[in-house]
Amino acid sequence: MTDMTATLRLQHYNLPAMDRAHHHFMALLGTLPMVSKTALPCLLNSLILNAREHFDQEERFMQVTGYPGYESHRQQHQALLKILDDYHQELQHQTPLDALTLHSQLCLWQDEHQQGWDGPLADYLRFTQNWQPREQVVLDLAVAGGC
Ligand SMILES: [Fe+2]
Repeated sequence: MTDMTATLRLQHYNLPAMDRAHHHFMALLGTLPMVSKTALPCLLNSLILNAREHFDQEERFMQVTGYPGYESHRQQHQALLKILDDYHQELQHQTPLDALTLHSQLCLWQDEHQQGWDGPLADYLRFTQNWQPREQVVLDLAVAGGC
């Protein structure tokens, strides 16, 4: 027996900005199975805007910290945005869109992306964040003539 709906599994990274962005995206995603046909274009538009904002944020974090997996991770984001834009185009051409199919596809993508891409990024960001104060201490000591 297979599940009728996809799994919505939210990971917590203990990074407030990243967690907030993920919670917001998952909240929007969670409304997809219940959306009416008339509200679907608006919800899809919100998902696209939210995904762009949330991906831009992650990509800024990667660039600022010199994350080595930046380009590959960015390509994953671009792939999802392409899927969302394709759905948006279909709606523009009056092609009926099955919200449950979209929901399943996005949940699967999100689950895989969280585990394979965002989890390692969060680990890296926490590591970088934890080492920053110590680097600053070393710099402060050097400037003060302590080294
Ligand atoms: Fe990501």
